[in-house]
Amino acid sequence: MVETQPSSFPRESIKVVLLENVHESAEAVFAAERFTVTRLSSSPGDAELRALIADAHLIGIRSKTQLREPALAGARRLLAVGCFCIGTNQVDLEAANRLGVPVFNAPFSNTRSVAELVIAEVIALSRQLLDRSTEVHAGRWHKLSEGCHEVRGKTLGIVGYGHIGSQVGVLAESLGLRVLFHDIRSCLPMGNNRPVASLDELLAASDFVTLHVPETPDTRNMVRAEQLARMPRGACLLNLSRGTVVDLEALAAALREHRLGGAAVDVYPTEPERNGPGFESPLRGLANVILTPHVAGSTEEAQESIGREVADALCKFVNQGTTAQAVNFPAIELPPSPGTHRILNIHRNVPGVLRDINRIISDLNANIERQVLATDPNIGYLMMDLDADLSAEVLDRITLLPTSIRTRVLW
Ligand SMILES: NC(=O)c1ccc[n+]([C@@H]2O[C@H](COP(=O)([O-])OP(=O)(O)OC[C@H]3O[C@@H](n4cnc5c(N)ncnc54)[C@H](O)[C@@H]3O)[C@@H](O)[C@H]2O)c1
Repeated sequence: MVETQPSSFPRESIKVVLLENVHESAEAVFAAERFTVTRLSSSPGDAELRALIADAHLIGIRSKTQLREPALAGARRLLAVGCFCIGTNQVDLEAANRLGVPVFNAPFSNTRSVAELVIAEVIALSRQLLDRSTEVHAGRWHKLSEGCHEVRGKTLGIVGYGHIGSQVGVLAESLGLRVLFHDIRSCLPMGNNRPVASLDELLAASDFVTLHVPETPDTRNMVRAEQLARMPRGACLLNLSRGTVVDLEALAAALREHRLGGAAVDVYPTEPERNGPGFESPLRGLANVILTPHVAGSTEEAQESIGREVADALCKFVNQGTTAQAVNFPAIELPPSPGTHRILNIHRNVPGVLRDINRIISDLNANIERQVLATDPNIGYLMMDLDADLSAEVLDRITLLPTSIRTRVLW
């Protein structure tokens, strides 16, 4: 249960609507808070959605439900939106920001799932495992050891040493791999993982190269013919990051010409919107190439972790006003402060707001114990703890300011 300012509101009055079969781990978090939860397995149509969220305080969705401005604006009590997934394109983030509604997601809950698949694929590529399995399934006995290797003592090069890259480094080292990494920022190496100065240096020194960078202008086509040519003959490339990072035609050519020994690819420049036949890629049918349909982060454990992480973030916002993990909002986090009254004010970002609010507080002879303001181009978010029980009066007067979008008080 998230620590909260004591007795600030009747907890059962907080209504949570969870759509699209959000994992039950989320419902457990809200139940511990005694919030009232409505849980649906489907993604409702627009009219049903609007009716469902008309008096909801929190809404939880996954990737199908489109939350556009009219629906957001119609939800008068809405405090926050939870995207129980990684992406947030399905929400009009800009409109939510203007309406004073923070949106939370879970960008790192599937880190471990991706890292484990990378390790599985490094071993599978090294042993040509999927080709042997496919042959035996087809009734063909093809026993060989040539070209098959242990991974112990080989070198794994990690490009992008963030959440996933660094976990891969830890797991790889436990298998006896030597680990090099390259990142544009300076990172603390885990275990004996070793940073190298450039991508070229990493490519030239690695038996396996695994990519864990975000999609940015710099990483678009980061690995193309020129980079593949720097890798040792027989080396393998893994891309479980973003589809735009590798030139797949160049990769296919390097594999066909046996310059590379294998590849594992989970992400593609364009991906189908739904399951079914008809997927095309220049890598289809090539030997020792593992192709998966963007599933590296898709496990039940990741879903459970996403459920908990997003529900926790929503509860922290309701109970404490914390927006540290929001994707569309000025970030503020202050620990709960028992005995104080916490005012949370979201306002239009125009000059003079802080002056107006401080004048209201000083007119009422209250003392501000702590005050934090963060802004973005559209809005400001102010959190302040007062030492006196002036909550109702302060709330009324701040709410009436023409710059105020939403104001709450926790005590
Ligand atoms: N296939 C899947 O199912 C799946 C699941 C989760 C994440 N992902 C993807 O994996 C990637 C990594 O995720 P993460 O959570 O580790 O991200 P992260 O933000 O924690 O780490 C990314 C790292 O890449 C580094 N970086 C950025 N540009 C770089 C460059 N040009 N050269 C070298 N390093 C660079 C950053 O400094 C950062 O350390 C993301 O693209 C994410 O979308 C894929």
